[in-house]
Amino acid sequence: MAQCLICDLKVEKFIDFGQQPIANGFLTESQFNNEYFFKMEVGFCPNCKMVQLLEQPDREQMFHENYAFFSSTSDYMKEHFKNFAYSVIEKQLLAEDSLVVEIGCNDGIMIENFLNKNIPHLGVEPSKNVADIARSKGINVTSEFFDSKLALDVIEKYGKADAILSANVMCHIPYMHSIFEGIEKLLKDDGIFSFEDPYAADIVQKASFDQIYDEHTFLFSVMSVSYLANIHGLEVIDVEPQVTHGGSMRYTLAHKGRKEVSINVQNQIQKEKELGLDNIEAYNNFTRKVNIVKDDLMKLLNELKEKNKKVVAYGATSKSTTVTNFFGITPEHLEFICDTTPTKHNKFSPGAHIPVIPYEKFKDSKPDYVLLFAWNHAKEIMEKEKEYMEANGIKWIMYVPDVKVI
Ligand code: SAM
Ligand code: TMP
Repeated sequence: MAQCLICDLKVEKFIDFGQQPIANGFLTESQFNNEYFFKMEVGFCPNCKMVQLLEQPDREQMFHENYAFFSSTSDYMKEHFKNFAYSVIEKQLLAEDSLVVEIGCNDGIMIENFLNKNIPHLGVEPSKNVADIARSKGINVTSEFFDSKLALDVIEKYGKADAILSANVMCHIPYMHSIFEGIEKLLKDDGIFSFEDPYAADIVQKASFDQIYDEHTFLFSVMSVSYLANIHGLEVIDVEPQVTHGGSMRYTLAHKGRKEVSINVQNQIQKEKELGLDNIEAYNNFTRKVNIVKDDLMKLLNELKEKNKKVVAYGATSKSTTVTNFFGITPEHLEFICDTTPTKHNKFSPGAHIPVIPYEKFKDSKPDYVLLFAWNHAKEIMEKEKEYMEANGIKWIMYVPDVKVI
């Protein structure tokens, strides 16, 4: 049995995805023989309630100068992060003498809003290629991994922060105690730390198993984040559900006793208990549902292959790496995956080695079916493709929360 990364007690395993590659490790044919794999198993800690990967690849395998995830590919997400930034400016009355630190700012999608308002800021972004895009927008970025040591360097150079923000990053970091130690030091007495990540309750309810991949060390809940905060002299003062990434939660933390705690926190913990997220049975039930989706989707893809139907996929997401490798989807099932991210083009998907092509070629391909890997952007994508799909009688295949052809 593995030890919990948060409280050191025993973690109970509930799903085994087998050998998995780096989810954003898009590769060329010459790299196939040296591809890196790790054993991806997930467990639940009955003590602190944290859901976690039992083994993680080294961070440098995932976050480096060729990191393939660029935040600004979705217009919806640009608007979402603008609203996030503006809500923090309002809550903390940020001005030209404040400091905002964003952990994992990627290409600057959120932090650029502070630059635009002349609010002093620092982005911490270890993946140099995406950090360079942020820098080209005029954003102040350091290309390092945030941890307790880096927090001290930041304090020395810039002073303490009025707001520390992060989105879709905290759940990526196994060394959570070092992160929280750093945040506790870096945050001003009346500062806030606000972060959001895919929410365990949404993942369990929708059986959205593909939110689990190498980068997602943790699936947070209000219960588990509260436990972690408490160890480090912090407390959760508010929680706000988000629709992004198939269902996320925004947690706002402050130094213990410094700010009023919203009733939302206890209410959300109560909801989590009603869903059974404090008990392994909810997670075992999730595994049963995932296996049904696996059987149904493979049955459908095998039938379409038998009938010589042309099936392609949309969105070479990190999530799709779990789907293809766990389910056994191959280039025999999917002719290609189209995507708007230039660095993924003319490469192959991790592990399954399905060709990734530029989005522009999608319209010429006239498939019979399109498997939507970027299901978290379904509204934006389906609206964009409605006319083309209807005019050519093309159907979407969805697999969250269950397999559907629409
Ligand atoms: N915040 C962006 C968003 O929501 O679109 C980017 C999210 S991306 C999935 C995760 C980012 O976290 C990557 O850009 C990665 O380089 C960064 N990251 C990983 N570990 C980090 C750490 N210890 N400190 C700061 N950033 C980190
Ligand atoms: P994400 O699910 O991790 O946000 O990744 C979304 C992926 O889907 C990313 O590689 C970009 C791609 N994408 C498209 O190809 N077209 C689109 O319209 C959108 C929104 C995303």
